Amino acid sequence: MDQLIINGRCKLKGEVIVNGAKNAACAIIPAAILSNDICVIENVPHIEDVISLVEVMNEIGVKTEFINNNTLKIDSRNMVNICVNYEPVTKIRSSYYLLGVLLGRFNKAEVAFPGGCNFGTRPIDLHIKGFEALGATVNLEHGIIDVSTNELIGANIYLDVASVGATINIMLAAVKSKGLTIIENAAKEPHIVDTANFLNSMGANIKGAGTDVIKIAGVEELTGSTYTIVPDQIEAGTYMVAGAITGGDVTVKNVIPKHMEAISAKLIEMGVEVIEGDEEIRVVVNKPLKNIRLKTLFYPGFPTDMQPQMAVLLSVVEGTSIITEGIFENRFQYVDQLKRMGAIIAVEGRVAVIEGIKQFSGAEVKATDLRAGAGMVLAGLVAQGQTIVSNVHYIDRGYEDIEKKLNAMGADITRISIEEDN
Ligand code: UD1
Repeated sequence: MDQLIINGRCKLKGEVIVNGAKNAACAIIPAAILSNDICVIENVPHIEDVISLVEVMNEIGVKTEFINNNTLKIDSRNMVNICVNYEPVTKIRSSYYLLGVLLGRFNKAEVAFPGGCNFGTRPIDLHIKGFEALGATVNLEHGIIDVSTNELIGANIYLDVASVGATINIMLAAVKSKGLTIIENAAKEPHIVDTANFLNSMGANIKGAGTDVIKIAGVEELTGSTYTIVPDQIEAGTYMVAGAITGGDVTVKNVIPKHMEAISAKLIEMGVEVIEGDEEIRVVVNKPLKNIRLKTLFYPGFPTDMQPQMAVLLSVVEGTSIITEGIFENRFQYVDQLKRMGAIIAVEGRVAVIEGIKQFSGAEVKATDLRAGAGMVLAGLVAQGQTIVSNVHYIDRGYEDIEKKLNAMGADITRISIEEDN
């Protein structure tokens, strides 16, 4: 088990290069299976969620090879469609995409229930309703989701909630179905558009991704493709907050500024100087920051995956800030860890009231999930004394080389491996 030892009170200065988007990679890598051919995916983040996904795909006969650290070759020509019930499936959320791609390619999928971060109940009822609308029968038994049909037929599907996972999964299943599928109230996140663009590069006919109506005209065959994944909005946002919290001067490179607008807007409201370039954003702090109110929403609203990092930043800003979590029912579990460092936060249901303190004091804390873990690292950067963050495996699920990137800008973070307690 790894820990990060962080000596605080640093001021970050310099540049950081953002990797490809985790949530796009986690959809695009399984989507390659639909081609029954060879795909080469570039700008793949080398993170634990991707490694787990690749391991699962190898178990079902998909050949994968990292041509270099961030380019993955996927050959799904000789894969077998057997029950996907390996341990990594239960570690990651995105294993649910194997349902859509196996159904799309073989008309049958058997996959264990997905894992992922625990933010309360994370149902997949909308994925299932979507598969059923396309003509599949779904059975849930012994922790396995079994979806099958003789033929997938396009349908009109209205999503009660604009779920990212359900939108992508329905797209994956429908892409080779017969006729037209229309997803209404679809999610609009950048990774939805990226997945649609990848599928179209393989010969799919998807229109409207990025709006709330996506039209998928089924095609008979998909071919192999070479495709580059978009930059990670959340990794970029995390480094923007790292610049802001340390009162530093940080240029975040390889970003799409349009994807960052909700995050940039909130930082600007707080008094952070945010300077946009074509593919970079510079964050500079020259004055004390102001408290704000913030609500997480579906894209293009403020992303829930940036909520813990912002709570950490607002904890050390004078005045009372309020965060309302609009997506998940239980995403403030990290607050108790932050309190160990001196934060004053009262949580009532989906609302956190944050009383700004002068500074954190270093403490031993745990990453309770992926983004909360990133938040703990941010807190450690500015804490008085030393912070030890454990459960680093959560952070590794979504950040490639987090301590190396921060250290290159002036942080003092050391990774150590310790023996696990039995
Ligand atoms: C994805 C992201 C995650 C991000 C989240 C919201 C991946 C692998 N994970 O998770 O990082 O935090 O989007 O941007 O891409 N819901 C239902 N029924 C369903 C599915 C979802 O009610 O069948 C609800 C959820 O409870 C939640 C909301 O819809 O309240 C959004 O969930 P969803 O967008 O599906 O998130 P995930 O796909 O789990």
